[in-house]
Amino acid sequence: MKKIQVGLCGLGTVGTGVVKVLEDHQEQIKHKVGCEIEISKILVSNLEKTRDVVIKQDWLTIDPADLVDNPEIDVIIEVMGGIEDTNQLLERAIRNKKHIVTANKDLMAVHGQKLLRLAKENKCDILYDASVAGGIPILRSLSDGLASDHIQKIMGIVNGTTNYIMTKMTDEGLPFDEVLEEAQALGFAEADPTSDVDGLDAARKMTLLANIAFRMELNLEDVHMVGIRGITQEDINFAESLDYTIKLIGIASMQDGKAEVTVEPTLLPKDHPLALVKNEYNAVYVYGEAVGETMFYGPGAGSLPTATAVVSDLMEVVKNIRLGISGNTYIDPQFDHHLKSDSEKFSRQFIRLEVEDQAGAFQEITNVFSDEKVSFAKILQLPGDREKIAEIVMVTHKISREQLLKSLANLKGLDVVKRLISHYRVDGEE
Ligand code: NDP
Ligand code: HSE
Repeated sequence: MKKIQVGLCGLGTVGTGVVKVLEDHQEQIKHKVGCEIEISKILVSNLEKTRDVVIKQDWLTIDPADLVDNPEIDVIIEVMGGIEDTNQLLERAIRNKKHIVTANKDLMAVHGQKLLRLAKENKCDILYDASVAGGIPILRSLSDGLASDHIQKIMGIVNGTTNYIMTKMTDEGLPFDEVLEEAQALGFAEADPTSDVDGLDAARKMTLLANIAFRMELNLEDVHMVGIRGITQEDINFAESLDYTIKLIGIASMQDGKAEVTVEPTLLPKDHPLALVKNEYNAVYVYGEAVGETMFYGPGAGSLPTATAVVSDLMEVVKNIRLGISGNTYIDPQFDHHLKSDSEKFSRQFIRLEVEDQAGAFQEITNVFSDEKVSFAKILQLPGDREKIAEIVMVTHKISREQLLKSLANLKGLDVVKRLISHYRVDGEE
């Protein structure tokens, strides 16, 4: 069989790793796919830059047409990032019958379904395992290894930057800004880290996971998204004293044909497997009706881990080309788009209030909750940092989001409540 020719878009962190893995593991790759794979063109934006890998100078180009319109090229690996321009480039490549491998979660969360359909019409593959949790083969596990099961719930630490920040704030008491700078220096934060800390990066990844797991077309707009900026050292300390750890957790669940996807700071019991995932590591917990609990753990970013996922996808594309079965990546959704309403979304909640320290205040507050039939698992009352001010910290039993929002609105209307300090989801205890 002829050599498979690859056009590589991007030679940064991931692109460099792809060149290294293809070079260092070439014998094994050839043995497994049954033919040679060769990079013939690399798209970059700066031809003069010094590169960390040995490449032939004539591979480099700044003209996308040298890849996407090149009849010699069979597969495009897209590891350059970007959404709209990159989408147009990949559409053009697919119309030219090129298969695609990408690590670009930003693109796939916005245009993924459209690209997958276009690829199917053109009998091309698009694989994007590296786009969620870098080196962990989680999309592949959901679509292949767990394909026969009904997936009911996914909980994931799918953003390394926020997990790093939460680990350092919790274990070392370091301030948010200082740890964010460290994460940027270590290279796993996005160029614009607001998408990490505000939850957008995790929301994009949860959308991709939920689409595959639940066989429903879910969009970024369907995700309830809260980032980690508002978490204070006091929140972390109170959570700790109640035996919880705070993490940015993506949760996707499906019940009676209705889905819910959230990314939000979540209190987990300290001994929950996800609570033990430290620093920039990622982990995804999957609950399937038949398989029960499974957990996937590993590096969520980095040059070689991400490149491993990219090259494994490339190998699958090549096997499909050899077998003549390309173009079957996309399967129409099995279920119509139905989301749970607020009265159908249940979770426990951690709530912190600043209240007047006077007779009857506690009673007024508990009346608000009992009017909404909210009951408590844990309550603490502590002196506040000022005279005649107390702080109440509580963890509810499972309540609906509707009950939560009504209770919070009614609390704000009470004179004795000075401030709703914070409230977070509590999960992982069922
Ligand atoms: P980098 O910024 O390190 O590299 C981007 C590369 O693409 C560079 O080589 C750059 O060229 C090239 N490039 C960017 N824009 C253009 C353009 N318009 N035209 C031509 N070339 C261009 O990015 P990463 O390697 O970190 O990330 C790549 C993709 O992989 C992103 O989608 C990212 O979200 C995803 N990803 C990254 C992970 C990671 O650990 N870094 C983990 C998982 C996914 P030049 O070198 O000349 O500047
Ligand atoms: N910024 C991302 C993270 C990189 O921190 O997880 C991997 O997608």
